[in-house]
Amino acid sequence: MTSPPMLLRLGRRAAPSLIGRYRAAGTDTLFGVRPAVPRRFIIDTSYSAHFMDFKGSSIPSSMKKLVVTKLSQDFREAVSVRTVAVPTPGDAELLVRNRFVGINASDINYSAGRYDPSVKPPFDAGFEGIGEVVGLGLSASSRYTVGDMVAYFGSGGAFAEYTVVPAKESVPVPSMKPEFLTLLVSGATAYIAMKRLGNLAKGETVLVTAAAGGTGQFAVQFAKQAGCHVIGTCSSDEKGGFLKSIGCDRPINYSTEDLAKTLRKEYPQGIDVVYESVGGSVLELAVNSLANKGRLIVIGFISGYKTAAGITPFNGGTLPVKLLQKSASMRGFFLPHFIEDYKEALRSMMQMFAKGELVCEVDCGDMAQEGRFVGLESVFRAVDYMYAGRNLGKVVVDVAPPTVGDSKL
Ligand SMILES: NC(=O)c1ccc[n+]([C@@H]2O[C@H](COP(=O)([O-])OP(=O)(O)OC[C@H]3O[C@@H](n4cnc5c(N)ncnc54)[C@H](OP(=O)(O)O)[C@@H]3O)[C@@H](O)[C@H]2O)c1
Repeated sequence: MTSPPMLLRLGRRAAPSLIGRYRAAGTDTLFGVRPAVPRRFIIDTSYSAHFMDFKGSSIPSSMKKLVVTKLSQDFREAVSVRTVAVPTPGDAELLVRNRFVGINASDINYSAGRYDPSVKPPFDAGFEGIGEVVGLGLSASSRYTVGDMVAYFGSGGAFAEYTVVPAKESVPVPSMKPEFLTLLVSGATAYIAMKRLGNLAKGETVLVTAAAGGTGQFAVQFAKQAGCHVIGTCSSDEKGGFLKSIGCDRPINYSTEDLAKTLRKEYPQGIDVVYESVGGSVLELAVNSLANKGRLIVIGFISGYKTAAGITPFNGGTLPVKLLQKSASMRGFFLPHFIEDYKEALRSMMQMFAKGELVCEVDCGDMAQEGRFVGLESVFRAVDYMYAGRNLGKVVVDVAPPTVGDSKL
């Protein structure tokens, strides 16, 4: 294999960043903040195996990554830990040392081969990560240098100690905070879906299901910002307390309160907008609870992901009648179809976060039975934790906590 040209240079400042489809023309970074961290300059590169930064911390020749070796919605059955060579970035690519990776409900749809049924195992798992650029190809060096911190998402490969990422699919971030990771998929989904499909108006009633989770927490906040009355479903009082703290007017802990009865009794006029992630009977209830001209946004159907079919049965025979009688609508939303809105969504959310106007709750498993999700192998525990409904906020794995003396804490 011919190695691509590696960067050999001294300290060129990164050009204005982000890139490709998401790039914010004319700004320093998509997130609007020029990284304040000192740059590390490559002092030695080799065309063969690895290269070094000025600290002399060499990149190892091998690393661990999670690979889907068998198609299954059972993540533990589908995915194996493999030790492989650290990959070499191509000309327009970055080699990122992952610090945090994000867990998504759809990780098990991906391992079941539901994203692209034509792809056969083995293939890499994990949608999103945040880490440090430790190597890069020549054309990628026009915008990045070693030591830059970037976040990225894409199809597969984040569940690894090192990931090669196309530079144009990376987003510079000002610091190594896991909160930035919450915005890439979870936050962006809520922001764009609410904006494009919700058509929220002040005073309307909005129902968010799985409200205390990765994407639900943002749907709650954006609905509240739009002046709506917000109802959020969750499975514990602790989550209910969190929902209150982010502006949810009526958290409903469905493990102690009957959701259908509560909605009927407290919202007899119906719900104007539903941000629906659970599917099955919850989706049916949401359809039946719509107000006249109500809008139901299908975000996901997590209750079915662990089944062989990937979806829980939905009794939709009379759906056309129900929608017609209420002039209501039901629309699906899939983030990759709304890439044209992505740049604005990220920039806006980052500004809100910087001003303290947006809570980006992260759950690294500190309260989990076996403790914090540290190291790549804990991705398995983190997926189980989410599917047990234990998470409060976005589930994040700390792949490589910093060692003493590391500047990127
Ligand atoms: N369309 C898109 O582009 C897009 C993008 C991102 C996410 N999503 C969807 O958004 C939903 C949430 O995803 P996420 O990654 O943000 O996960 P999450 O909300 O952080 O975690 C999942 C939560 O779902 C709730 N839940 C309800 N019924 C469940 C069941 N039967 N099994 C497991 N969990 C259940 C649990 O909260 P409670 O116990 O409190 O109910 C659990 O904490 C998923 O449906 C996902 O597919 C869609």
